[in-house]
Amino acid sequence: MCGIIGYIGKPPVVETLLDGLSRLEYRGYDSAGIAVLNGNGIRVYKRAGKVKDLRATLQHQSLDGHVGISHCRWATHGVPSDINAHPHVDCRGQLALVHNGIIENYAELKAKLLSQGHRFQSQTDTEVIAHLVEEHAKRLSLGEAFRKALQELRGSYALALVATSDPNHVYGARCGSPLIVGVGKGEMFLASDVPAVLAKTRRVIYLNDQEVIEMSSSGVQIMTLEGKPIKRKPSQVTWNLASAQKEGYDHFMLKEIHEQPNAVEQTLFNRLASTAPQITFDRRTTTLLNRLSPDERIVILACGTAYHAGMVGEYMLEEFAKIPVDVDLASEFRYRGIPVDPNTTVLAITQSGETADTLAGVRLAKSQGAKILSICNVMGSSIARESDAVIYTHAGPEIAVASTKAYTSQLTALYLLTLYLAKSHGALDPKRWQELAEGLCRLPELIEKALSTERAIKLIARRYASARDFYYLGRRYNFPSAMEGALKLKEICPTIHAEGYAAGEMKHGPISLIRKGWPVVFLATDSPVYEKVISNIEEVRARKGECIVIASEGNKTIRRHADALIAVPKTEELFSPVIVAVPLQLLAYHIAKLNKCDIDQPPNLAKSVTVE
Ligand code: G6P
Repeated sequence: MCGIIGYIGKPPVVETLLDGLSRLEYRGYDSAGIAVLNGNGIRVYKRAGKVKDLRATLQHQSLDGHVGISHCRWATHGVPSDINAHPHVDCRGQLALVHNGIIENYAELKAKLLSQGHRFQSQTDTEVIAHLVEEHAKRLSLGEAFRKALQELRGSYALALVATSDPNHVYGARCGSPLIVGVGKGEMFLASDVPAVLAKTRRVIYLNDQEVIEMSSSGVQIMTLEGKPIKRKPSQVTWNLASAQKEGYDHFMLKEIHEQPNAVEQTLFNRLASTAPQITFDRRTTTLLNRLSPDERIVILACGTAYHAGMVGEYMLEEFAKIPVDVDLASEFRYRGIPVDPNTTVLAITQSGETADTLAGVRLAKSQGAKILSICNVMGSSIARESDAVIYTHAGPEIAVASTKAYTSQLTALYLLTLYLAKSHGALDPKRWQELAEGLCRLPELIEKALSTERAIKLIARRYASARDFYYLGRRYNFPSAMEGALKLKEICPTIHAEGYAAGEMKHGPISLIRKGWPVVFLATDSPVYEKVISNIEEVRARKGECIVIASEGNKTIRRHADALIAVPKTEELFSPVIVAVPLQLLAYHIAKLNKCDIDQPPNLAKSVTVE
């Protein structure tokens, strides 16, 4: 949460910072700010609102300079306001900094700084860092003062700092929040995430926790908190700028929904060929998986949408690979003392690789001897680097807050993993294995077909857009789909209450709320529990609820049970969560659009949740 950028190079620095910031806005969008350093000192502009509001404020300012920092905020300490927006400055306005993270001991530091005569303007935790650096800089060089201040902080941070005393450098540091350096020609960037620099460079250095940088326009020095130099070469990023732009779509979410055939193909690429009856992973993943015995336990950790992928993962790994699996919300796992040991493999599922709770869960499990495998989209992210092995989804950058292509590509990675383990443990008859492998190869084509439901979905969305409550119900593999469908709607359409339930649980509570016209989305694709789902549909209809049914193509009898029908391509039951995800995402999208919601940046949410 929160995005930061630092830049040193050529004018116009404001445009460079604002452009980068707009690509980080998925990380936080309640306020934004910028500080530019030139011969006349530091000029800071900041305000509550989005980057476009900051841009409007800056329109009538002439701000030249070749060094600057900027920030988009997701408030933790202090309400979203002009004063609490970053950058924050010291007493004399001679240094400015931006921060992503939380300083846990800020109250005690603030008390000490107040007693030393520092004057504070905001209610944020961040401002203490500016004053702390100012205090140390009375005796030390700026670089030393910065490092000394960092040593006193408890909590998490990614920071960028500029100061009039050293106008040819931007300082940065990370501990628990992501930070990368973009290496350009005669210009250098510091940013929370790669899309911020993609327009300018694809050469990137990933920083580790407890690392500090001193960046000039011609290069960067990386060092420890104690100032010991660290050598690291840039990596070449494979994502391109187009993948981080809307390309004609109204929203990133819609673009990313339509990118799913390709995203899933990328996840499968080089790992599964329809001709060869095997799954291929990289060396580290293969080594880890080959050491996993059938009686070992897998614990899946994830948050949000990735948790729903994990729920589907539990079903498939248990059914086809016969491995016992627990799936846990990372925010629960880390505080509930679940036993893990060297006989446990923890599977972390995360798009960003930076979610604070998942990262903490991984660290905890690792400290207890568990092996860590992750399914991750962002290369070089914290969880990817701290895992023993990674299955990258290669879905490309996901910008919209509501996860779509990351989810279906996580599911695809789980299918690959399941088939790999089913084969290596001899848990599946070879003929059945081959059938499933062929089914998996066909997924991109089936997703493409599922996308063609969009026209029908627009009409359904129109019919139900004014409803204020929705249920989503499914069984077995599509119980997690029901949870995910409801999450999509409530994420992007905050005026609607939506809940996902196991259809069999309806009678234990939720059914009591059903009244005339209450829309219930049913997942009724072909499965061994299809008839049970039909009974649940009838229970809702008997109470005058309206049933929007997602069913398999070719089902001739379903129409009589449905008030609205969405037919999706037929597939094996275990693959159906990928196929039904598409109409669920489209339904949420079009309902939110009709309700004029801020689809890519819904209130109070952020894409990368780097705080607890
Ligand atoms: C946030 C995002 C969700 C995402 C969840 C976990 O809540 O809005 O879309 O599923 O974090 O994120 P991760 O990056 O760990 O998959």
